[in-house]
Amino acid sequence: MINVAIMGHGVVGSGVAEILNNFPDRVAEKAQEKINVKYILDLRDFPDSPLGHLVTHNFDDILNDPEVTVVAEMMGGSHPAYDFSLAALKAGKSVVTSNKEVVSNFGVELLAVARENNVRYLFEASVGGGIPIIRPLVNDLAANHVSSISGILNGTTNYILTQMRECGRDFGEALKDAQTKGYAEANPAADVDGIDAARKIVILASLAYGKLISPDSIYVEGISKITLSDIEIASEFGYAIKLIGHCTNENGKLLAMVSPRLIPAGDPLHTVDDVFNGILVDANMLGKSMFYGKGAGKLPTASAVVADIIDIAKSPKNDPCFPAIENASADEIADIMDYRCKNMLVFDAKADDSIMSEFNASQAVARNGKVAFITEELSEKELLDKLSSLKDAPISRIRLL
Ligand code: HSE
Repeated sequence: MINVAIMGHGVVGSGVAEILNNFPDRVAEKAQEKINVKYILDLRDFPDSPLGHLVTHNFDDILNDPEVTVVAEMMGGSHPAYDFSLAALKAGKSVVTSNKEVVSNFGVELLAVARENNVRYLFEASVGGGIPIIRPLVNDLAANHVSSISGILNGTTNYILTQMRECGRDFGEALKDAQTKGYAEANPAADVDGIDAARKIVILASLAYGKLISPDSIYVEGISKITLSDIEIASEFGYAIKLIGHCTNENGKLLAMVSPRLIPAGDPLHTVDDVFNGILVDANMLGKSMFYGKGAGKLPTASAVVADIIDIAKSPKNDPCFPAIENASADEIADIMDYRCKNMLVFDAKADDSIMSEFNASQAVARNGKVAFITEELSEKELLDKLSSLKDAPISRIRLL
């Protein structure tokens, strides 16, 4: 029998407890061993829960109990989640987590400590909720060089953008709905400002390229400036606006970024709507493959956490197939100013007509008293230089994928 401690009894933690408690036979069959929840660590009590008697407020109860061999951390935030995970690994306990903040900031150290202590640190639920993406990237695509990853990695913002496009709802109303449904982070800025997606794209980049970039050091732009008008104009061009985490590694330079992007009709990411996530991996042997499913929510995310627990039950020692990841050094990181793409620029209708030729633009759309066009492919630096020389600044600028 494997004894598990669940740290954090919020949305995901309670989902993990529910799966382990309600489906013990299925889990035992898959794990080839019974999985028992021994503790639930939380600041609160849960007198109405069937597992309420397992609640402890003291992490030392878990740390000092040699029967606990797996700790499932779903506390959220960096501290004390990182500190407890580190202590558990050093005490010879495997750790599974859905906590992308901890993985993206401390993953290199925690993986190394797991290796030193011959235990495992698994985080399938940290990206894409319940969608299998970490294991496929590490194991199934191992023969490939990954040319790029482009993902809709945040369910809350995808839900908000879908609601805006399909129902004409305003941003605040759609956000509130997402929070009620349990998709949003406690602090919605992490979703809306792209921080959550940044954590996830650096995790994916680290698995694809073996280097972890700090999520605080990449280019991140959220969705708070996207207007209904932008969405309508983009639709006229045949594009949907999605918040995209993107990474590539060319000539030894790793680029990771998050920003709203225009996705053309026909691209598999175009139809990924609502709280769903979609992760498009372009790999040199396989070509493009798409990982799609529920990227947030209680049971979808808990399903990936429980899968990690089952994996550890079957293989409790350090997994040599997991790649060694290092922190990226400054000279391994690409300069965002060199990044090249096309852009949609939206101007006030009174703007000078000659602007279009300045950007070698071919198509234009006029709507809502605005004109918009798509630029030729330009580097960030080239685009910013051109924009700074204009008399009229654009109202919006959104990159194409
Ligand atoms: N707030 C996150 C999202 C939860 O909306 O995708 C899952 O990581």
